Order: sequence, then C-alpha cells, then structure tokens
Amino acid sequence: MIEIIQISDLHYGSEFREDLIENIISYIKKIHPDLVICTGDIVHKGRVIQFKNVVQYINRIKELSNFIAVPGNHDAKNSGIIFFEKLIGPRRSRLVLEDKDSIIVGICSARDDMAEGMIGDEQLDWMGRQFDRNLEDRVIALHHHLIPIPMSGQKFTTVRDAGEILEFTNLFEIDLVLMGHRHVPHAYTISWRNSSSTTFLYCGTSTSNKVRADDSPSFNHIFLNGGNLEVYIVNSANLKKSLLLERKEQHTEFIRPRKTRIEHLLASKVWDE
Ligand SMILES: [Fe+2]
Repeated sequence: MIEIIQISDLHYGSEFREDLIENIISYIKKIHPDLVICTGDIVHKGRVIQFKNVVQYINRIKELSNFIAVPGNHDAKNSGIIFFEKLIGPRRSRLVLEDKDSIIVGICSARDDMAEGMIGDEQLDWMGRQFDRNLEDRVIALHHHLIPIPMSGQKFTTVRDAGEILEFTNLFEIDLVLMGHRHVPHAYTISWRNSSSTTFLYCGTSTSNKVRADDSPSFNHIFLNGGNLEVYIVNSANLKKSLLLERKEQHTEFIRPRKTRIEHLLASKVWDE
C-alpha cells in the first residue's frame, strides 16, 4: 500500500496563507506519508522572488517525505519554469518505491504564458518509457485536467492532447491520475473494457484563498493498494477529513465528490445573509 498526500495550487504571491501551509506541514509530520505530490501552481506569477520565498516550505516537506512536483501554468508564467527546475525540482520526474510496489510519474503540462495545457508527443513517448517496471500501483501527476469537471467555470481547462493521455492511462493500466488547476476537488473513475480502472482525482487549492464560491482550501489524503483506493479531502484550515471516494478491486462502490461539495456550499453562511 502507498499513502500519498496531494497538495496543489499553493499560489505563493497571491492570497497565500502561511497558517494553511503550516497546518499541512504538521499533518505530514504526523502521518508520515510515503509521498507528497504537488500538482502545480506553487507560485502565482513565476517570479524568481516568489520561488525563492516559497522554497523554505517545500524544503521542509522534502525533509519529511518523498516529494514530487509538476509545474502549473502559473509557475510557467514569465519563463518561471527555469526557476521551478532550479529551486523546486525537474519539470518531469519518476519515483519508484520498490518496497511499496509503486511507480509515480510527474509530467509537465504547462507552457510559458499559456493558460491551457499540452503534453506533446515527445513527452508522451518519455512517459511510456517510465512504466517499464511491472509494479502494482501506478500513478501519474499533472497540473491541467484530462476530463472537465463541474462547477469549475467555463474556461478551457484540459490539455490539448487529453485523448492521447486518456488512452495511455488505459493501455498502461494507470490506477490514479492526480490533477489540480481549477481549485475544485473532484473525482471520476473509468472502468475500462480490459477490466482495469483509472481514477482521475482533482485537488483544491491547498494554501490560498483562491477558492470557488464558499469552498474551503483543501488537500487530498490517498491510500492506494493494488486497485483498492480510498481518498479523503482534508480541510486545510481545521484538518477535518471527509471521505471523497472508495474504490474496491476495480469497482467504485462509493463516490460522491459532487454531493459532498454541493452540501458544503449549501451549508455556507452566504445563504443566511
Ligand atoms: Fe491555480
């Protein structure tokens, strides 16, 4: 079994909240996950000063856990990808955890000053070569969406070549795809004809006030074990956990991301005013 914390869209430099990143670091310290993955937009404008300031938090997480980050469109603004690679990590990477029977691959969907994303043939080819090991749990992380999600606005949010990557997840029997981008927690599971399943999991903004409607900043706590998957959304402010998805042996028995979110929004004090 592999235990993962997914954080996303930290947006250092705009509406970033230090109290939330401190909460997340203390949560990571407490549970000792096998891996922390950040699915992009670590900084808001790709500025070198933003990367220099946020790296203190990233380094503290790296001291506590394995760590992978992929760049988001905001990291890539103003040629910021250079500083991302210098201070945070490579734009694409692979982590093999032999003892956990797991392989995790992070890919770069961000392009300089472009809001939409793309993977490209060369990277797709590279991605294929990373899954050369027959390990049980297979995870891909990227910033942009592969499938649009509800209540995330009407902008174009998917990578241009989403079809190629979706087919890849089927062919390579990927268990889990992690994404960020629109600050909306959500999940889909596709059961393929070859009887494998892939869950597409989206993370909210973990450390900023850039939420949609009256949502809370949040991160995902994930347990993946040979096709079985359990995901909790954790509120970054009070660390309250709610079950988002439970998938058992290629079959999703319980999934209610939209219901959870709508209930949360309807419970908002906004309606009393
Ligand atoms: Fe973002």
